[in-house]
Amino acid sequence: MGERIVVADRLASNGLALLRSTSGLDVIETVGKGPDALKDALLDAAALIVRSETKVTGDLMAAAPKLRIVARAGIGTDNIDLEEATRRGIPVLTAPGANSNSAAEHALALMLSLCRRIPAAAQSMAEGKWDRKQFEGTELRGKTLGILGLGRIGTIVAKIAQAFGMTVIALDPFVLATHALSLGVDLLPLETVLGRADVITLHIALTEDTRHLLNAERFGLMKKGMLIVNTASACGFTPQFAGLEELHETYGNRGLVVLGFPCNQFGAQDAGSNDEIAEFCQLNYGVSFPMMAKIDVNGAQAHPLYQWLTQEAPGLLGSKAIKWNFTKFLIGKDGAVLKRYAPTATPASLAKDIETALAA
Ligand SMILES: NC(=O)c1ccc[n+]([C@@H]2O[C@H](COP(=O)([O-])OP(=O)(O)OC[C@H]3O[C@@H](n4cnc5c(N)ncnc54)[C@H](O)[C@@H]3O)[C@@H](O)[C@H]2O)c1
Repeated sequence: MGERIVVADRLASNGLALLRSTSGLDVIETVGKGPDALKDALLDAAALIVRSETKVTGDLMAAAPKLRIVARAGIGTDNIDLEEATRRGIPVLTAPGANSNSAAEHALALMLSLCRRIPAAAQSMAEGKWDRKQFEGTELRGKTLGILGLGRIGTIVAKIAQAFGMTVIALDPFVLATHALSLGVDLLPLETVLGRADVITLHIALTEDTRHLLNAERFGLMKKGMLIVNTASACGFTPQFAGLEELHETYGNRGLVVLGFPCNQFGAQDAGSNDEIAEFCQLNYGVSFPMMAKIDVNGAQAHPLYQWLTQEAPGLLGSKAIKWNFTKFLIGKDGAVLKRYAPTATPASLAKDIETALAA
């Protein structure tokens, strides 16, 4: 009987076969057998191989008095108590780079899916529809990709993106300038990357420094335009939902964000619960832009957003109060309120102003 190796998580069959064909190893697989079977197997184990499911805790290591090594098939050691392993003198191995290529290709797959709207189009077709116009996409070619973290995965993403005709810029304070230079990637400060990129992809480990690297303030630096709409579910203007959805679909790819804020301050037409409003809009008008929770738009309890919007863009004759549902506000890329539109203004009539705002 050779050295015992316990494989606690599912490994690729060829990896397992390689271990089994190596002489001097006694390979025991405990996948799906429960914690007691794992502890039993560990009693005589010299090595433990895991992926991300098994938590290698102090308790588990205590059940393995002969353990000399823990190997994580992949990268990241979140599931392993490194401090305890160190205290016990057990080295922990990872396989950096093992799935870098898969992760990089997956990042590109997600970008392409978004650009070509593949998930929504596939869903629509599965429902028996054939609505090609609605799912018109946009190209990656000619766009700027901002990579946060130009390590193993970020580097592969950069090369693939360049093959797609993208300009690649990156943030990585630790990578050598010559590495970026050889890739043809400009290393820039975070704020510049966020301001210039059309697409942003993150390939940095989660640490205290990188947690919330992207926050509300930084989202504000990214390219976009925003349309904020005040809506309710049951008044004469509700067909405007369809027009707003069309704006969302036409300009969403170019950075327009349409937000709907239901309220019940006009004619006591209760808009229903937040879920009912969302369902009403979705079922009747195919709304896919975000419908926010119900708020007050006028009066002492008015939401701060609406206090600001009405302050920045008063209505006719300087009146700040909102007179009816479907009053609309167009916000520019710099966060300034560009224009207020009356409830009667159809969404289609905003198209020209939106194009101008997006081109600014
Ligand atoms: N989703 C998946 O399937 C999958 C697969 C593999 C890896 N990952 C994760 O992807 C991440 C990157 O993996 P990798 O193998 O490329 O790692 P890596 O260590 O090769 O690269 C990370 C890069 O981030 C940089 N970095 C660190 N702190 C930074 C900061 N504050 N600002 C900017 N850059 C910073 C480092 O200098 C390094 O170049 C890891 O968190 C890893 O766990 C995910």
